[in-house]
Amino acid sequence: MSDLRRPNFPIEPLILNRWSPRAFVPQSMPYNDLATMFEAARWAPSAYNQQPWRFHYALRDDANWLSFLDLLDPFNRGWAQHASALVFVFSARSSRGRDDKVRAIPSHSFDTGAACTLFSLQATALGYHAHTVAGLDYEAARQQLAVPQNMAVEVAIAVGRRANPETLPTELQQRERPSTRLPLSERFFAGPFAGEPQTQRELPQ
Ligand SMILES: Cc1cc2nc3c(=O)[nH]c(=O)nc-3n(C[C@H](O)[C@H](O)[C@H](O)COP(=O)(O)O)c2cc1C
Repeated sequence: MSDLRRPNFPIEPLILNRWSPRAFVPQSMPYNDLATMFEAARWAPSAYNQQPWRFHYALRDDANWLSFLDLLDPFNRGWAQHASALVFVFSARSSRGRDDKVRAIPSHSFDTGAACTLFSLQATALGYHAHTVAGLDYEAARQQLAVPQNMAVEVAIAVGRRANPETLPTELQQRERPSTRLPLSERFFAGPFAGEPQTQRELPQ
C-alpha cells in the first residue's frame, strides 16, 4: 500500500485497498462474482430497512453492454469500455405503505450510497475494483432504461480486474494511483459547529 494510504489509526485493510482505478483488463467476468457483490450490497443498512436501492447491470458480453456504456460521458466511456461489468444504481424516492399511502423516503440516496460502498468493498475482497461514476447522461439513462418516475438515477459503477496503467492514455497514467484523504481534524469534530464559514475547498485530483 502506498504511503498516501497510511491511516492514523489501524483500520481494516480492505477499506484502504478499495480504490478507483481506470485501467481495466477487457475480459468477461462470471456472473456469480457480480452476484456476490450484489449480495454484499443487499446487507446494507437503510432507514426502516426499506432497501430503496435497485441495481441494473450489463456484463461486457451482454446484448445491453453497448447501450449501457453509451450512457456514460465521453471521458468515462473512454476507460470504462474495458471494464467487465457496468452497473446502474437507482433509488426509490417514495414507497407505498400498508395503509396504501405514498410516503417520501428522505434517505433514499444515503441508503443507496451505503449499499454501493458494500458493493465496492466486496469487489475489492474478490480481487476486482469498482469505480463509481456520476459523469453520465442522467436524462438519457432515465429514458433508455425506462426508469419509473419515482426512482432517482444515482450513479453507474464500472467493475473489472485492474490492468497495467500503461494501457491508459498518457494523461490518465499519472492519475492511476490510490489517493489520500483530508486529515481527521478537518472533517471530524467534537460538539457543534464552531461558527467558522464552511465553504468546501476544491481538492487536488
Ligand atoms: C458519487 C461518485 C461519483 C464519481 N464520479 C466519477 C466520474 O464520473 N469519473 C471518474 O473517473 N471518477 C468518479 N468517481 C471516483 C472518485 O473520483 C474517487 O472515488 C475519489 O477520487 C476517491 O478516490 P478512490 O475511490 O480511489 O479512493 C466518483 C466517485 C463517487 C463516489
